[in-house]
Amino acid sequence: MLNNYRDFETPYFILDKVKLDNNIYGLTSSLDKFWPNYTIGYSFKTNTLPWLLKYLQKHQFYAEVVSANEYNLARAIGYPQNQIIYNGPVKNQKTFNDALLNETIVNMDSQVEIEWLLQLLETTTRNFNVGLRVHFAIEDACPDEIGYEEDGTRFGFSVETGELYRVIDRLLTTGRINIAGLHLHSTSKTRSIKVYRELAKMACRIKEHTHITFEYIDIGGGFFGGVPGKPAFDEYLTAIKQELQKAYNVTETKLILEPGSAIIGSPVSFVSSVIDAKDTLKSRIVTIDGSRMNIDPIMRKKMYSFDVWTEEAVKKIIPKQIICGFTCMDLDRLMVLKDHAALAVGDRIVFNRVGSYTMSLNPLFINLFPVVYIKENNDIYAGREAMKISDYLQIGSLVD
Ligand SMILES: Cc1ncc(COP(=O)(O)O)c(C=O)c1O
Repeated sequence: MLNNYRDFETPYFILDKVKLDNNIYGLTSSLDKFWPNYTIGYSFKTNTLPWLLKYLQKHQFYAEVVSANEYNLARAIGYPQNQIIYNGPVKNQKTFNDALLNETIVNMDSQVEIEWLLQLLETTTRNFNVGLRVHFAIEDACPDEIGYEEDGTRFGFSVETGELYRVIDRLLTTGRINIAGLHLHSTSKTRSIKVYRELAKMACRIKEHTHITFEYIDIGGGFFGGVPGKPAFDEYLTAIKQELQKAYNVTETKLILEPGSAIIGSPVSFVSSVIDAKDTLKSRIVTIDGSRMNIDPIMRKKMYSFDVWTEEAVKKIIPKQIICGFTCMDLDRLMVLKDHAALAVGDRIVFNRVGSYTMSLNPLFINLFPVVYIKENNDIYAGREAMKISDYLQIGSLVD
């Protein structure tokens, strides 16, 4: 298909493969430089576009999954069990057992999973490798970066209460469980380098306390990737290495990373068209055929990186334009443009760097999922067609 995508029917997502490749190459070359013993698990939840999941598998990424559904999706895409990292507190027992029996990297996150593991030991004579998700008050070490200062974060076994060490003792006393690794992901508002220093420091502290030479340290995801002015992979990995090497060495211990946004955030844009512009008493309302649901489904953003494609050479400046989405909710307002050139019906608004936590959180509200194009130099093809009513009717089982 020719590169006339500016005229394509809207709305659509478009994934720039060159940018995606740059993120993949940027991350792998940093790891080669700083900690060459590594595994990258792509965080499925960040964007589960099947085209992407297949593409990343071809680039030796593992699947990082956090539910039975995601685990089964990884299997259906073609990830073997030993190339899956299974995290989070909402696994189910069936997939938990299947994962452990087939060499998946399983990071346990709850007491229920400890009970499942003990039950599994009774059904077989085999030994098992497991990882443990670590909980500590990282919000105190990185004030204003994490949130939840009052109540703390949710995931893992607490270091400060001693729960982590009690779990380790309990598993080791079975004589059949190897604590293979630690999982230390932390989501942060800042994605700052300091967060990773604190995670790596904690990994060192746990080694000093337990004297276990862990086979892997899974430092999680949450990095920036391909965003101008934000930390680069080399900077994150310099800090992680500086801290980790105080207690670990690269030959003995593998570094696992679980990026989502850093891979798929920056390569994706969303293209929408202005379908109406009208003046009211208080402002100009500009309605587009995309929605906040497409690019900010958890409704936190106030502004976007965007471009306007327009045919008009000279435009009047308008003091205030409210850009509204296609849904019938009055709160579906994407942004307020102040002293900006007037937007007219047919103009395209292109929202940049919207690949993470967008497609995977899109609801089927009023409109169905839009098409996702893949842009590969001058070639453009659909990585996922727009969802049709016939697709919708296939969801679940139809009851007459
Ligand atoms: C356990 C885990 N790993 C990786 C990620 C990916 O984070 P991001 O998309 O910010 O890189 C998340 C996201 O919250 C997560 O919970």
